[in-house]
Amino acid sequence: MTKALYPGSFDPITYGHIDIIKRAQKLFDRLIVAVMRNPDKPMLFTLEERHRLVVEALREVGLNTVEIITHDGLLVDLARHLRVDAVVRGLRASTDFEYEFQLALTNRDLYPDFESVYLMTSRDFSFISSSIVRQVKSYGGDVSRFVPACVDRALTEKLRR
Ligand code: COA
Repeated sequence: MTKALYPGSFDPITYGHIDIIKRAQKLFDRLIVAVMRNPDKPMLFTLEERHRLVVEALREVGLNTVEIITHDGLLVDLARHLRVDAVVRGLRASTDFEYEFQLALTNRDLYPDFESVYLMTSRDFSFISSSIVRQVKSYGGDVSRFVPACVDRALTEKLRR
């Protein structure tokens, strides 16, 4: 039985992330989504809020069977603890490559017992990102094509404060 982990900051989750989750589910027997901290990025939503949004968003699109957890620490520690075979990440443009390459090699150095697996982002989502969504929404733009309705509502609520 193959087990994979899909980690991310999900601030907030977008249809780009959901596309990766759907496709990764077909490749592995068990997929665990881990909502984590990226210490390099300022976050709009708290860890708990991001986790709740992932749960609600996946329910909204009918992905009820995916396991969703939070982890505040190193990715390799979680991968070791869960004994996963693979860590899945989405790859958009060449700009993602440098960062992902560094992440994969560092993680392998710290814990060599899992593979990093990269799924090429679908063309429809290659231009979106969580920060673009936050920015468009903060100027009153329509993000309904990029995020599920529950995330759209949470952004409205958060940015109103
Ligand atoms: N389509 C479109 N966009 C996508 C996408 C897809 N399929 N997959 C990811 N993205 C976007 C996201 O929207 C996000 O956009 P943003 O940069 O505007 O926020 C960006 O790509 C990547 O975000 P995401 O995948 O949500 O998470 P991340 O790259 O911020 O997460 C961690 C990185 C959490 C995995 C990493 O920081 C980590 O491992 N942290 C724990 C600490 C640790 O172990 N550090 C050691 C590192 S060597």
